[in-house]
Amino acid sequence: MHILMTGSAGFIGYHLARRLLADGHAVTGIDGMTPYYDVALKRARHARLTAHPEFSAHEFMLEDHARLDAACRAARPDIVVHLAAQAGVRYSLDNPSAYVSANVVGTHNLLNAVKALPVRHVILASTSSVYGAGTDCPFTEDQPCNHPLSLYAATKKACEDIGHSYAHLHDLPMTACRFFTVYGPWGRPDMALFRFTRNILGGLPIDVYNGGDMARDFTYIDDIVEALVRLLPRPPGNGGAAP
Ligand SMILES: NC(=O)c1ccc[n+]([C@@H]2O[C@H](COP(=O)([O-])OP(=O)(O)OC[C@H]3O[C@@H](n4cnc5c(N)ncnc54)[C@H](O)[C@@H]3O)[C@@H](O)[C@H]2O)c1
Repeated sequence: MHILMTGSAGFIGYHLARRLLADGHAVTGIDGMTPYYDVALKRARHARLTAHPEFSAHEFMLEDHARLDAACRAARPDIVVHLAAQAGVRYSLDNPSAYVSANVVGTHNLLNAVKALPVRHVILASTSSVYGAGTDCPFTEDQPCNHPLSLYAATKKACEDIGHSYAHLHDLPMTACRFFTVYGPWGRPDMALFRFTRNILGGLPIDVYNGGDMARDFTYIDDIVEALVRLLPRPPGNGGAAP
């Protein structure tokens, strides 16, 4: 299969692309190399992927809808995996417009670009953050998510909703996956595990929020990749994906 992936230089995209290439698929990766964290890490991930003959890389922002339309038309993908996003909860206090631009405008541009293509399945990355003020644990897919607590969560929920309307209006088989903090090698330096490690190695105190009264679910990257690989050939209505 030919998979079009956004966010291919990102943490999850890099690992998923490696697995798909190893499984014999072709991958077209799109990434805008945003400076949210060290771009050298993103370039190093893309460089490793580019070593594979079935990987082709495009470097531009999803907000550039003309380039996005052209890249999608040229790729003629069987499957689209949309991972590009402005991630991170706390940074949305400093740079809110990056979230609206990348997540809302970017996601809309992508869906608009693929809506007329014969795509078998579109997978959108969402987040456990959409559960927001909900306190019923464990969280389930059918819980209402109407009270986001961060702009990150609000924009990711907007992506789910925009996705739902495109799926309905254009018969696009689509699944949104709510990831719970993903960790592993080549991970994101903005996340707690890396920040803690950096400070510990540097002999510095670590930042602990809420007086240390925190609980969190983590998912190892290989489990996310395995889940996505199994989900790819199971679009909704074909015996597998979420309702
Ligand atoms: N890693 C996690 O713990 C986690 C948890 C929940 C949800 N998610 C979601 O999973 C997806 C992947 O996350 P990740 O951890 O790999 O993040 P990441 O930041 O490592 O990867 C995202 C990639 O998207 C690119 N990008 C951002 N905005 C763009 C734009 N406007 N146009 C083009 N490219 C753009 C960035 O350059 C980056 O390489 C995201 O949608 C994120 O919201 C991740």
